Parts: sequence; C-alpha cells; structure tokens
Amino acid sequence: MDAIVNNFVKMEPLNLEHTKELYDLTEANRSHLREWLPWLDHIKDCSDTKSFISTYEKEGAPPHFAVFYRDRMCGVIGFHHIDTQHKVGSIGYWLDYGHTGKGIVSTALKKLLKHGFREHNLHKIEIRCAEENFKSRAIPERLGFVYEATLRDCEWLYTKFVNHAVYSLLATEFTA
Ligand SMILES: CC(C)(COP(=O)(O)OP(=O)(O)OC[C@H]1O[C@@H](n2cnc3c(N)ncnc32)[C@H](O)[C@@H]1OP(=O)(O)O)[C@@H](O)C(=O)NCCC(=O)NCCS
Repeated sequence: MDAIVNNFVKMEPLNLEHTKELYDLTEANRSHLREWLPWLDHIKDCSDTKSFISTYEKEGAPPHFAVFYRDRMCGVIGFHHIDTQHKVGSIGYWLDYGHTGKGIVSTALKKLLKHGFREHNLHKIEIRCAEENFKSRAIPERLGFVYEATLRDCEWLYTKFVNHAVYSLLATEFTA
C-alpha cells in the first residue's frame, strides 16, 4: 500500500501557475479547512491565493509544495519558517477533503522531511497541531515524531483560542 500511494503522490514547488487550481481547491474546501486553519477569511478571491504563492516563490522563502495525487492537485505542504541559525524548521499541510484517508499527506511529509534534513541541513523539524485536531496529530505520530508539549492558547481560530500540541523529529531520528 505504501508503495502504491508513494507512486501516485507528486510534489511541485508552489508557483504562480498553480494559482487558479489552488484557489479553486481552497474554495471547494472552505468549510473543511476552516475547522482548523485560521487564514480562510483572508482568501476572498484568486488574487489572495496569488499573493500567498508569491510570498513562497521569493528567493530564500521556506519551501512550499503543491501536492498532486494521480496528477490532480489535492493539497499543500511546506515549511512555515526555517530558522537557519538554529537549524529548526516548522511544517504545515492541508488536504482536499475528498483525498483524505489515503496516506497522501503522510507520504508527502516523508518527502518533505527528506528535503528539509538533506537539502536544508536541518537538525530539527517541528509540527504543531491544534490539540483536538486528531487527524493532524496522527500524521507526526505515524512518522515517529516525539510529542514534546502542549502550548496554551497560542492560536486564535475565528471564535476561540486553541492549544497546540508540539511534535518534533531530529535529523538523527529520521530514516528516509
Ligand atoms: C490533517 C489532514 C491533512 C489529515 O488528512 P489524512 O488524509 O487523515 O492524512 P494522510 O493523508 O496522512 O492519510 C492518513 C489516513 O490514510 C490512511 N492510510 C491509508 N494508506 C496509508 C498509507 N500508506 N500511509 C499512511 N496512511 C494511510 C490512514 O489510516 C489514515 O486514515 P484514518 O484517519 O482513517 O486512520 C486533513 O484532515 C486536513 O487537511 N485537515 C484540515 C486542515 C488541517 O487540519 N491541517 C493541519 C493543521 S496542523
């Protein structure tokens, strides 16, 4: 099963050619994503998706990828930021609802971890999930990340603050 998913999951560095497809995917998943991601209200039309992509297309920006399954765009994964001094990166991701339950993000994450540890020489990669976002928490847990702590009230999610469960993986713990 792993090999099958692996063969069908492709990643392309996010670029402006993805704008329309990414905006349409975001629009189709607005309520699904809004449950856990705080930025949906900032995406009002295609120009907002274009601005988002432009941020990550700049030289030196942390790498972001469009994720494809069987050649259809189905989500995004990337580094929110990379601290080059301390060699720490933090990853985020989301997936089209219709593509959940197949291992796509877990597969894409393995590829991104390899990229982060090998190409960016990172020592530590973090993933922060809202405490009650169990689908998201299952992803770092599945890949052997270590649960570090729960941080209190660190994200405003439209109507309430949520805690973050913090997971991390060290380069020495990563097996590609
Ligand atoms: C979080 C989110 C990406 C999880 O999606 P997902 O499909 O559960 O994650 P994966 O693609 O890794 O797939 C894992 C699922 O596929 C199944 N699966 C099937 N084949 C698999 C394989 N080869 N490898 C891993 N998992 C596999 C797993 O059992 C799991 O299903 P389950 O939850 O029913 O047990 C998705 O729910 C989402 O986008 N949510 C909204 C945005 C969000 O919360 N982003 C994260 C913010 S921190």
